Amino acid sequence: MSVRIVILNGPNLNLLGLRQPDIYGHDTLEDVARKCSDLAQTLGLETELFQTNHEGELVEMIHAARASAENEGAAGIIINPAAFSHTSVAVLDALMAFDGPVLEVHISNIHKREAFRHHSYVSSRADGVIAGCGVQGYELAVQRMATLLKA
Ligand code: DQA
Repeated sequence: MSVRIVILNGPNLNLLGLRQPDIYGHDTLEDVARKCSDLAQTLGLETELFQTNHEGELVEMIHAARASAENEGAAGIIINPAAFSHTSVAVLDALMAFDGPVLEVHISNIHKREAFRHHSYVSSRADGVIAGCGVQGYELAVQRMATLLKA
C-alpha cells in the first residue's frame, strides 16, 4: 500500500495558469496534481491535492491530515499557503499540531518580490522550503518528501 501525502494550496491558486502567468507560469493546478501523482507513484507515494480560498478551510484540511481513530490521515504535508503564508498564525498553529514532515512550496521566489512576501509564518514549522522553482517546486517537494519518509 502506498503512503499518502496531501498537497494543500491556499487562496487564488485555483487560478494557476490564468493569473499573472509571467510570475506563476501557464500550468494549471490540475497539471500540478497530475505531475505530482505520476511522480509519487514511482516513489511508492500517493498524492492528493486540495485548494481553498478560505483560511478556516485550510486549517481544517491540515487537521484532516492528522491521523485519528476515524481517519488514517496523511504521512506528510506539502503546502503552498499562498498569501496566508505572510499573514496566518492559524495556519502555522494547525501545522504545529501535525506530527509528520511539512514542506512549504512557493512557485515564485518570494524573497525577490515585495518586502511583505519575504516573511512566511509557515517557514518556522516547515522541514524544508522551496521557492522560485516554478511549479516544478511541487515535484521537488514530492521527491524530498519521499526521502524524509524513508529516513
Ligand atoms: C505564492 C507567493 C505568495 O506571496 C502569493 O501570495 C501567492 C503564491 C507562490 O507560490 O509563489 O499567492 O505562494
